[in-house]
Amino acid sequence: MADVNRRWLLAQRPSGNLKDSDFAFVREAVPVPGDGEFLVKVTHLSFDPTQRGWLQADSYLPAVKIGEVVRAGAAGEVVVSNNPKFPVGTKVQGAFGWQDYCITDGKGFWPTAALFPGVTPEQALGIFGTTGLTAYFGLLDVGQPKAGEVVLISGAAGATGSIVGQIAKAIGCTAIGIAGGKAKCDWVTGTAGFDACIDYKSEPVAQRIRQLAPKGVNVVFENVGGEILDAALGNLAMHARVVLCGGISSYNAASADEIVGIKNYMAITVNRARMEGFIVLDYAPRFGEGVQALAKWMAEGKITSAEDIQHGLENAPSTLRRLFEGKNFGKQLLAL
Ligand SMILES: NC(=O)c1ccc[n+]([C@@H]2O[C@H](COP(=O)([O-])OP(=O)(O)OC[C@H]3O[C@@H](n4cnc5c(N)ncnc54)[C@H](OP(=O)(O)O)[C@@H]3O)[C@@H](O)[C@H]2O)c1
Repeated sequence: MADVNRRWLLAQRPSGNLKDSDFAFVREAVPVPGDGEFLVKVTHLSFDPTQRGWLQADSYLPAVKIGEVVRAGAAGEVVVSNNPKFPVGTKVQGAFGWQDYCITDGKGFWPTAALFPGVTPEQALGIFGTTGLTAYFGLLDVGQPKAGEVVLISGAAGATGSIVGQIAKAIGCTAIGIAGGKAKCDWVTGTAGFDACIDYKSEPVAQRIRQLAPKGVNVVFENVGGEILDAALGNLAMHARVVLCGGISSYNAASADEIVGIKNYMAITVNRARMEGFIVLDYAPRFGEGVQALAKWMAEGKITSAEDIQHGLENAPSTLRRLFEGKNFGKQLLAL
């Protein structure tokens, strides 16, 4: 075991695009666990657009404080333990943050094998972590799609969006994705099995939605916001459901003036539609149900998950930036 714990701390509140100088890379002694505590060697970090918000301000979780380790979901292995529930060798997951080692009493952490035996750390943070569960509960509980309906998904080649479309297909819906670039759109239709994918970087989005769904879209699963959400609202079917999962196009805005608002909001009234947000953490009591359903679809070959794995703790800031540069393909992870 190394005797140094490398850690990324928040150095300042970011403004606009994330910079290396927003973070400080420090080396500290590996902490020694006290009574009831254990030490985790972090093996994989999860990267999620919401981390950008955690660095900025209090929201559904308190903001990371200046000087604190950067918060992130992670997987690891217990290497020293004074806690009989987490013996040495246990694979665990939780919000360990951007560091080599994390000390904990186990509250808010759980053995990875509790999901099901044989699950990999990559799957535990992706398809069977909050990413896959966001897709599952956001689409099925909030979107309430019925077989035969049309589901439109932005961020379709991303971690969440790619699973949403595959669930939609598994339950008999038509899935139309929106993603940036030909390679991503080809993957969305070819590998993830969506019926169509609109390249928002080279195609007129509103017009293409109208061509692909002439009777309107029944469910919009929104990950991007701004102009893309507006194009979707202009193409709603009667009684459509708009699931506001996220709005990544605005997360790097330095001020509200840089955020593109929606113009087509009256389409919600005219179509008697519903637009609703949700936070996946509220579904924690039902996570087991989601994991089981996702595992079943995976075993049946109806869902495939893509992971984009970068390497080296020193690359944590640039790995987070990949999400906002559209560089990630599927779930963004970093192996330590
Ligand atoms: N509500 C919840 O509980 C919850 C939970 C998890 C995630 N989320 C939200 O779900 C969304 C997807 O998260 P994820 O973890 O699955 O990330 P992701 O989709 O794997 O990665 C982000 C993707 O967003 C796209 N993007 C980035 N900047 C963009 C911009 N300015 N305009 C259009 N597209 C842009 C890029 O794809 P392209 O190359 O295709 O542009 C990028 O690959 C995020 O909005 C996130 O905040 C919400």
